Amino acid sequence: SKITLTVIKADVGGFVGHTDVHPELLEIAKKHLKEKGKMLIDFHVTRVGDDIELIMTHREGVDSEKVHKLAWDVFWICSEKAKELKLYGAGQDLLKDSFSGNIKGLGPGVAEMEFEERKSEPVIIFMADKTEPGAWNLPLYKMFADPFNTVGLVIDPNMHQGFKFEVYDMIGHKKIIFETPEDIYDMLVFIGATGRHSIRKVYTKNNEIAAVSSTQRMNFMAGKYIGKDDPVLIVRCQNGLPAIGEALEPFANSYLVTGWMRGSHNGPMIPVSLEDAVPTRFDGPPRVCALGFQLAEGKLIGPQDFFKDVAFDNAREKALEMADYIRKMGPFEPHRLPLEELEYTTLPHVVEKLQGRWKEE
Ligand code: F6R
Ligand code: MG
Ligand code: MG
Repeated sequence: SKITLTVIKADVGGFVGHTDVHPELLEIAKKHLKEKGKMLIDFHVTRVGDDIELIMTHREGVDSEKVHKLAWDVFWICSEKAKELKLYGAGQDLLKDSFSGNIKGLGPGVAEMEFEERKSEPVIIFMADKTEPGAWNLPLYKMFADPFNTVGLVIDPNMHQGFKFEVYDMIGHKKIIFETPEDIYDMLVFIGATGRHSIRKVYTKNNEIAAVSSTQRMNFMAGKYIGKDDPVLIVRCQNGLPAIGEALEPFANSYLVTGWMRGSHNGPMIPVSLEDAVPTRFDGPPRVCALGFQLAEGKLIGPQDFFKDVAFDNAREKALEMADYIRKMGPFEPHRLPLEELEYTTLPHVVEKLQGRWKEE
């Protein structure tokens, strides 16, 4: 029978500020999943920056109320502890007071996929902090559609036919399927606009699920878009899918993403080990971790902390140079986001204050 791999993440309070998760919260999460997660085959709890990440396997399928409720309860009791310790922004990602059927839309981010476990099933869980779901567009494109990244597209008969990409318009609330390589120029028109369009799923041409991101609908609340924080991504690998090294390769060159300080800046994405996933400089720069697991009848064998590899040192060094460079621009675009995209804005305030001082011309 099929296995479901579910990753659910939330920030329920930072230690200190927005940099990390307090270890007691992680202990509480593990204990709760162990005691109450009878429907799970296995689980792994970790954190990247200020986000708690619950990696779970089960046979309940995607959108399982039982599994989503379990994750909600974990975040809820963790946020109680966060309040007790007066951690920063305690409960911040729990936007509602109670659970109602599905955790999507309640604040936490979700990526999950159901599949027949293969003879051997290597998967990577990518987890980012201080950025948005569109940050996965460039690496997903490279993994599944760029032969300069993934040579399997050229020389592996099982990959040569290409893939299908489900792209979601997070603001327009609609989706489209692009076939690659046929549609790549059309697709790039949209996925290059990372603030609005996000690759939600990738399938093989035989409709096998290959990748799922935590892209969800953004809602315009109190004058800003919410629900776009700190995404996760699941990628299945090998044997007709990108090799582990092809899935990691896009991160060997740092690229610019949106997020960082006050969610309002462009800056380099740095691939780091879990140990180094504590963003502090200007609350960043944005970070990505990659944990590898082999599944064995749903058991999570691992993890392997991939970005520990010294082969990513150059990417890190370059990213730091990029950070120095772009930070010098201070509050100027394109380091700071355009006015309409700011997560924090004094604009209405300042406009009001200056009423009467602007003269029509
Ligand atoms: C970015 C982030 C932080 C905060 C910043 C200000 O996603 O979470 O950069 O925006 O630390 O936080 P407040 O306004 O809570 O003091
Ligand atoms: Mg936070
Ligand atoms: Mg975060």
